[in-house]
Amino acid sequence: MRASVAKSPVSLGLLEHEDALVVRRWLGVFLRQHNRAWVNVRGLGWSDAEIDAQVVATDLVTDHWTWLLRAAGRDSSMVRVARVDGVPVGCVSASARLDDYLRTHTGVLDWVYVDPSARGHRIGTLLVDTARTWMRGRGLRSVVVNVLADNEPAMALYRSAGLAVADVRMMGSLQGTDDVKA
Ligand SMILES: CC(C)(COP(=O)(O)OP(=O)(O)OC[C@H]1O[C@@H](n2cnc3c(N)ncnc32)[C@H](O)[C@@H]1OP(=O)(O)O)[C@@H](O)C(=O)NCCC(=O)NCCS
Repeated sequence: MRASVAKSPVSLGLLEHEDALVVRRWLGVFLRQHNRAWVNVRGLGWSDAEIDAQVVATDLVTDHWTWLLRAAGRDSSMVRVARVDGVPVGCVSASARLDDYLRTHTGVLDWVYVDPSARGHRIGTLLVDTARTWMRGRGLRSVVVNVLADNEPAMALYRSAGLAVADVRMMGSLQGTDDVKA
């Protein structure tokens, strides 16, 4: 069943076991995209088929789905699913953690995903706002998120929610560089 995002209202609800098919598909796409970016910047030279094989062999989608289900059932984290006509169109998960440096708790946006067919209708904004409301309700005063440097749609979403780039994690290959003599 396909949801008509433009015509029907979006509702927010809890993650259900029945969402497995859709959410696991989203996770599969997201994790491959994520691993593709890391493979490129680390110069690992894996083909798309090898990335795919690694995701399957390590059961990465099941790990993340299990993690989401657990997060949905915990008091210290939240997972919400956006639905249109009962069909899942997006998902957000958030938690809180003690900041290593400031030693205060901060909200963490763990994962945001909108189905490709539903993008551009502010569902990402709705999901991020929902997570931020949950964080404020827990007395948290700040929010952090990790995002791939070339993920412009996600950067635009977070910028629109008032977040700014604070630091940058750099990665690289160790191949083809001169070895230092011990
Ligand atoms: C990132 C994502 C969640 C955005 O969802 P969305 O529902 O399309 O976003 P919205 O419609 O709420 O748009 C929010 C803002 O981002 C901007 N934006 C969204 N997609 C964009 C794109 N492809 N390029 C540039 N800007 C974009 C919008 O213009 C809007 O900006 P505004 O508030 O200044 O008008 C969606 O693209 C997605 O699921 N991507 C794959 C998963 C992913 O990368 N998640 C993030 C992991 S860190």
